[in-house]
Amino acid sequence: MVRQHVNPLSRIHQQPRPLPPPEALFADPSLPLHLDIGCARGRFLLATAALLPGRNHLGVEIRRPLVEVAEAERQARELTNLHFLFCNANISLQDWLAALPAGQLDLVTLQFPDPWFKLRHHKRRVLQPGLLRAIAAALAPGRELFLQSDVAPLIEPMVALVKASGCFERPEADARPWRQANPLPVPTERETHVLAQGLPVYRVLYRRNALPPPSRQALEQAGRSTDNPHTLADVPGDSSP
Ligand SMILES: C[S@@+](CC[C@H](N)C(=O)[O-])C[C@H]1O[C@@H](n2cnc3c(N)ncnc32)[C@H](O)[C@@H]1O
Repeated sequence: MVRQHVNPLSRIHQQPRPLPPPEALFADPSLPLHLDIGCARGRFLLATAALLPGRNHLGVEIRRPLVEVAEAERQARELTNLHFLFCNANISLQDWLAALPAGQLDLVTLQFPDPWFKLRHHKRRVLQPGLLRAIAAALAPGRELFLQSDVAPLIEPMVALVKASGCFERPEADARPWRQANPLPVPTERETHVLAQGLPVYRVLYRRNALPPPSRQALEQAGRSTDNPHTLADVPGDSSP
């Protein structure tokens, strides 16, 4: 039985895990790379990797049994442009992203992250300032970050944090506050479940601009403000997502 949630702040999940470089993961490591954070059992990436062979796809997930299932399925399907790794994205991804060849990271997706509704649990949420800064540092101008969730009080502070970073723009043509269509060819498991119930999905597609990432301290400070809905209006720029 796989646990529904694990606490990313528990001691076991705070241990850094060195992640193998692209050469150890993919048949052609020079392909543009798609990183999916919180990939669960990988059904979204298994379908996406087959449809988009011109990219490598890496799924990272904190629940190890799900990664084992996903990797077994990947091997059965003989997909060499796909890999799944067990890690806590907030502990192990930053060094891995920093070591990528410049320009290789093409797309980062963060879809239906765990909401951790209680205020005292917000630190367990996956999009923390340090991770966003590492993503911003690894994405070249024009490359994309895609967020979606069915929980407005979760995605709103994520959007506010991305905005506070100053590193991302939204395509002019996209509807505000939320983009209607999913730009990806395959819905995730959670997305399929939510849409089948007729519930709303909140989506935002970002393009990296040319500005340098803010300092970690500045983004952490912004993170503290954006985590508190009463101070969203203090985020630079307008306060709507
Ligand atoms: C609600 S599920 C969504 C799964 C999938 N993205 C989807 O849309 O169907 C969120 C996933 O993120 C994983 N997760 C949560 N925190 C994580 C972290 N710090 N590092 C890696 N994965 C994490 C959870 O274990 C869970 O599988």
